[in-house]
Amino acid sequence: MPQRVLTGITTTVTLHLGNYVGAIRPCIAASREPGVESFFFMADYHALIKCDEPDRIERSRLQIAATWLAAGLDPARVTFYRQSDIPEIPELTWLLTCVTGKGQMNRAHAYKAAVDANLAAGEDPDANVSMGLYCYPILMAADILMFNAHRVPVGKDQVQHIEMARDVAQRFNHLFGRGEDFFVLPEAQVDAEMELLPGLDGRKMSKSYDNVIPLFEGGAKALRESIARIVTDSRLPGEPKDPDGSALVTIHDAFATPAQRAAFRDELRAGLAWGEAKQRLFDLIEAEIGPMRARYDALMAHPERIEQTLQEGAAKARAIAAPLLARLREAVGLRRFQPLKAASAEAARPKAALAVFKQYREADGRFYFKLSAHDGRVLLQSEGFAGGREAGEWVKRLKTEGAAALAGAPVARGDGVAEAELAEALAALVAANAA
Ligand code: TRP
Repeated sequence: MPQRVLTGITTTVTLHLGNYVGAIRPCIAASREPGVESFFFMADYHALIKCDEPDRIERSRLQIAATWLAAGLDPARVTFYRQSDIPEIPELTWLLTCVTGKGQMNRAHAYKAAVDANLAAGEDPDANVSMGLYCYPILMAADILMFNAHRVPVGKDQVQHIEMARDVAQRFNHLFGRGEDFFVLPEAQVDAEMELLPGLDGRKMSKSYDNVIPLFEGGAKALRESIARIVTDSRLPGEPKDPDGSALVTIHDAFATPAQRAAFRDELRAGLAWGEAKQRLFDLIEAEIGPMRARYDALMAHPERIEQTLQEGAAKARAIAAPLLARLREAVGLRRFQPLKAASAEAARPKAALAVFKQYREADGRFYFKLSAHDGRVLLQSEGFAGGREAGEWVKRLKTEGAAALAGAPVARGDGVAEAELAEALAALVAANAA
């Protein structure tokens, strides 16, 4: 069984160099390993939790999709899709929601942080907390369990969510599995690489610190300008510099071979000017990112091609999701109604259509009735009655008593009609009458 690796990116942001180094690049590298089946997706349902600007959601998911592809994701190897193209995910979310304790969601970090911030501000604890935010971990569990991922590469802040996914998977298996495990228990994979790249000021690179180096946006010019803003100490050209603990060197490491890393450190110790060091860093990053940026720009010029790729990805994903969801629905009791066992033999036999009685008056002024089979043959023909009521009473008796009422009845079997056939037709009418 291949190892399934799955991760998603919430589509509210524009990706920066830290996202590339910490997530995109290692995930794409891992997807090329033999024995690995990768699932990468745009978490756009999650984006709705944090963002009510439709245009931003739309732009971000397009940019993120283009970034994955430009960075070398091979859609033939990887199942690559938008979360919102897989309706099985919200359906699974509901099945999981019904077996998740509210108390467990109370302990989710993101929710607790919101409550703490509200309390600190003297607000109602749940002010501005949507049910989407509150149930965020359940949707994420569905993302992971829907594809039975073994490994989920994430940042440290997401580890609790993977643990919650394991818990709910275990609970569901236990409640409905009957010895069979529907869900693999996923493991968080927190690589050293996912430990985020430092930003311009040396703190972790993050939009909220306004210290990011852009990945593609703004082109080579924006890359050069932001590298120029990396904070260094004030040692002059020619003065020996300490490479350790410098954000510039750490960022350089993320793109350099071991030999380049050692050489860069030696040069800094020997007095390389910071300005020159920044030029080297730019050249190094641009050598890797430049060709990707060209692909990115070409992709962004043709959203319809990305759309096509994602539609194909969704079809691949749903081919896995739909059969599993069908089993889960069955397991929880959302089943199709089936004929009961005893009745099913009955139902299997083709049922002859019922015969019908007709009452009528002839030119002789008398009242008659006849019983016709579904194919029009006359099974039974009455004699003429002086009154319609009398004819009606016989019909009623035959319908309720069946062949038993034939004795003494002023009737004759139709031509070529066997006694048994007539009896059966009457019995069927009696049964239908009683039903
Ligand atoms: N919550 C993740 C984040 O903000 C994104 C995400 C959504 C995700 N669903 C996922 C990551 C499933 C891994 C697996 O980073």
